[in-house]
Amino acid sequence: MKKLFLFASFIIMTMGADAQNVEQRVEDALGKMTLHEKIQVLHAQSKFTSAGVPRLGIRQLNMDDGPHGVREELEWNTWSPAHWTNDSVVAFPSLTCLAATWNRDLSRRYGHALSEEFAFRGKDVILGPGVNIARTPLNGRAFEYMGEDPLLAGEMVSPYIQAAQQNGVACCMKHYVLNDQETDRFGVNVNVSERALREIYLEPFRRAVDKAHVWSIMGSYNLYNGEHCCHNDILINRILKQEWQWDGALVSDWGGTTSTMQAALNGLDIEMGTYTDGKEREAAFGYNDYFLADKFETLIKEGKIPMSVLDDKVRRVLRLIYRTAMNPQKIIGSQCSEAHYEVCREIGEEGIVLLKNGPLPVDFSKYKKILVVGENGTRSLTEGGGSSELKTLKDVSPLEALRNQLSMPSSIDYAQGYYSGKPMYSKQEKLDSAKQARLHEEAVEKAKDADLIIYVGGLNKNHGQDCENGDRESYDLPFGQNELIADLAAVTSSPKRGEKKGTLIVVTFGGNAYAIPWLDTVDALVHCWYLGSESGNALVNVLTGKVNPSGKLPVTFAKRYEDYPYVKFGERAYPGIKGQVYYDEGIFVGYRGFDKNKTKVLFPFGYGLSYTTFDLKNVIVEVASLVEETLNMKQDAVEVTVNVTNTGSVAGKEVAQVYVASPNSKKKDMPVKELKAFAKTRLLQPGESETLTMTIPLDDLRYWNEQTHQWQLDKGKYTFHVGVSSTDLRTTASLNIE
Ligand code: GLC
Repeated sequence: MKKLFLFASFIIMTMGADAQNVEQRVEDALGKMTLHEKIQVLHAQSKFTSAGVPRLGIRQLNMDDGPHGVREELEWNTWSPAHWTNDSVVAFPSLTCLAATWNRDLSRRYGHALSEEFAFRGKDVILGPGVNIARTPLNGRAFEYMGEDPLLAGEMVSPYIQAAQQNGVACCMKHYVLNDQETDRFGVNVNVSERALREIYLEPFRRAVDKAHVWSIMGSYNLYNGEHCCHNDILINRILKQEWQWDGALVSDWGGTTSTMQAALNGLDIEMGTYTDGKEREAAFGYNDYFLADKFETLIKEGKIPMSVLDDKVRRVLRLIYRTAMNPQKIIGSQCSEAHYEVCREIGEEGIVLLKNGPLPVDFSKYKKILVVGENGTRSLTEGGGSSELKTLKDVSPLEALRNQLSMPSSIDYAQGYYSGKPMYSKQEKLDSAKQARLHEEAVEKAKDADLIIYVGGLNKNHGQDCENGDRESYDLPFGQNELIADLAAVTSSPKRGEKKGTLIVVTFGGNAYAIPWLDTVDALVHCWYLGSESGNALVNVLTGKVNPSGKLPVTFAKRYEDYPYVKFGERAYPGIKGQVYYDEGIFVGYRGFDKNKTKVLFPFGYGLSYTTFDLKNVIVEVASLVEETLNMKQDAVEVTVNVTNTGSVAGKEVAQVYVASPNSKKKDMPVKELKAFAKTRLLQPGESETLTMTIPLDDLRYWNEQTHQWQLDKGKYTFHVGVSSTDLRTTASLNIE
């Protein structure tokens, strides 16, 4: 025990020493800075850097997109590429894919590898990860976020942040908050109940502040309570900085700052990307026109804003600089190393979700004629998408990886099947229907000779698909894919005289759920999110069974668009009317809403098949007391243990999910159940078991009481359902909490 205490205090001391050292350096620098130098560190000096204090030898802050890899170098002051020749990087899988792994250790390894790439490029701040909530399946940026549940998002984002920041590279969590659609993103005012704001939309941020101590957060473009979220009194001053005691720097989204007084008084610390020169267009080097530049300096000089307001901002910016740019422990990093590709592939392999199975895993050598159909079989899915776009050194497509698998690559034929135009940010180009029809016919023709068809489609990074600054127009797959898949299924299911029918495996990419009218006619369905540089290799390793899939859905796949909880409230609930959107579904987002409405869904939250089977039993719940190691404070918690056994014939991993029904879960304004803990087994051999232990602090069982404006823990019987999806609950235990 004594050793443990000594070790713990050593940890606290070193951490303390670092933190104390930073605070000393902050105060020292602050005391030496002139007024103008204090103002300069509060805003951009180029597209992606904010100023340091050259006179004092304090370096500028280098920020960069994005959550999935280091963006190619842009020119100093424009959005145009600088055409470097050494900024091709690893594209890691999308964050929705990371969420789908439900594997905290992979999240840690993701943050570690990504921060090595950021450090190597001389960057101090990763502009990400994003944890906005998938309340609508049409959100253009859902692929950058971590699903519909705040606990999953908060738990899966924290290790990524901790690992990056341990390397001296800050994360800038985004977009704080309620940026849950791209339609009218710069101006929409979100009307949401206090309870939904707290329990659903703020919760991933709160969790990451509490567990990962994220060093910077990016405000969002939209408004809440009539104020832009980049300078919002309730969200930043009252909740983030006072109630949560957050010591980081609040960075605006690019162009999200709209007023000097609000930026000064409502908690903005670093203003980035403002359009200067009348705010219509960006004047070259008009950085002194920024809202937190000359205008702010004048207000300070005139005593209209107290120096303490300025000093608080400067402290936060200096703290960010000393934690990163001026941190002697900041790593050198590396780029495109084999280790990075390994992490990239493993995250992809564990994020792929097997939704329907029959023929998988597949032995390609058994098939005479294999046909790959679909534009995503060859298309790069790392370009486009907006600010998360990447310039890669390697981007293995599914077709390439399939051909690499076989001794006779020629035995795999290819048909594009449909076309979607090039990746872009502007409006989707008008597609040529004659060309579309020709591609469709060619694919169906070729399918007649194939005994195995692998369809590779889904969404892509075009505007109007999975792309920033616009939402999807439809819940259906685009570019005529539903008709194409139906025709391919018809071909494979009508065997020529006496021959066995063909096999159709469908593989989709995309950041969100979509309608699947052809589900019954295909033999297997695999959803991949976006897998990054190792895309094809991760996919083929799963299709061949080299890796047994263990991904679980971080979003629900509803049967129909109309089933989504907000849809029945009409346009006001999405995309909003005249700049106002109302989250009328309240806390009933995703499975919370489908449970409440008793809606049968196609594939539930937390769902994912495996090539083996698992048994979950002997769940035990008991109250334990959890010692918060850093603050050395006691906190009561519920400890849930469950025994997981691989009852199948191949090795695999399973995710135990704990959904809790509170004593009032029958009441109309309470959720039926909520995810409160999860854990993933190691790779279990057939017949092998593992006992998983999950801890739920009692604080996590509270709900937000809108009368008292406080968190409240109801007394009474709590029921803990443990399962392998939100609807496949295997074992249950209850506990009375007084
Ligand atoms: C964009 C995005 C934000 C990105 C920033 C810099 O508009 O909203 O996520 O980090 O600007 O590119």
